[in-house]
Amino acid sequence: MDDLRDKYIDLIGKAADESALEDLRVQAVGKKGEISLQMRELGKMSPEERQLMGPKLNALKDEINAALGAKKAALADAALNERLQAEWLDVTLPGRGRRMGSIHPVSQVWEECTAIFADMGFAVAEGPQVETDWYNFDALNIPGHHPARAEMDTFYMHRAEGDERPPHVLRTHTSPVQIRSMEAGGAPTRIICPGRVYRADYDQTHTPMFHQVEGLAIDKDISMANLKWVLEEFFSAYFGRSVKTRFRASHFPFTEPSAEVDIQCQWKDGSVTVGEGDDWLEVLGSGMVHPKVLQAGGIDPNEWQGFAFGMGIDRIAMLKYGIPDLRAFFDSDLRWLRHYGFASLDMPTLHGGLSR
Ligand code: FA5
Ligand code: MG
Repeated sequence: MDDLRDKYIDLIGKAADESALEDLRVQAVGKKGEISLQMRELGKMSPEERQLMGPKLNALKDEINAALGAKKAALADAALNERLQAEWLDVTLPGRGRRMGSIHPVSQVWEECTAIFADMGFAVAEGPQVETDWYNFDALNIPGHHPARAEMDTFYMHRAEGDERPPHVLRTHTSPVQIRSMEAGGAPTRIICPGRVYRADYDQTHTPMFHQVEGLAIDKDISMANLKWVLEEFFSAYFGRSVKTRFRASHFPFTEPSAEVDIQCQWKDGSVTVGEGDDWLEVLGSGMVHPKVLQAGGIDPNEWQGFAFGMGIDRIAMLKYGIPDLRAFFDSDLRWLRHYGFASLDMPTLHGGLSR
């Protein structure tokens, strides 16, 4: 019996993990374990022998069970200590910095324009980027043979083969929204429409996708003077300083008379600055809405008149934030975006001061 005890105490001491320990338990005190079998032998003994051996075997069984229990607790402690060591975490280490995205200059300027014109009582209207050629051209007094259609460098959508209807176009300007909002709201009206437009154009101040903000004001006695006041009011709020503008007589089929507006600026040392130098950058086209356009929008030109303008959002972003090349706006270069982008909590607003 002593041999049995020594053997198991030794093995239990050496058990490496819980499953080895469980094997030992089965081997010693399990139903068919060595000690259990010995106990079964008690029935074959004489009463004297049984009285001697019974308590001894019971004591042995208790001792082995106690040793198993103690070892099991020791193994669990060791496992816990190992985990605590491995999963140790230094909560005093500095956090990992995460880069924040930035607001694109176009989004920023889009918001600024909306805020300034909203302050002057203009509501925001919208129209589709894929437009019918009627809204984009015909309704704006640009018939099929008109040279302006070619000048616009239009992107046409595909029609299915055999479909003879004129193709839809990627709108070349935001002016079709003039017609859509006349149809929807009639007169009087005062709306702006900021949005994306498309033309096959590509150089330092032209990109194939760019942004315009259309303006339209229709009432009984609106004149060119109101147009000039609104635009000058806009520029002084937007630039936060006086900038020199040039109203240049021009021609659009959808306005009469028409004017384009340029802003004085200078390209120097990889940057563009407003208010100095002898370059001019065209920022918008404008004029008094043509009677035929009012008619196309369902408004009686004998009763109503108004002005309209279409301003290049990207152009005025270049001027205000000193960005010399428009093409870089849409390259998705992270270094450019970080340099010219705005922190989301640091955006110039109408109330906080628009200039930076
Ligand atoms: C027009 O698009 C007229 N629809 C504007 C208008 C509206 C006139 C209402 C009268 C009444 P224009 O093609 O000139 O006009 O473009 C207007 C402005 O968009 C330009 O002054 C310029 O600032 C900007 N622009 C034109 N083409 C591009 C381009 N490819 N990339 C960036 N900006 C452009
Ligand atoms: Mg122009």
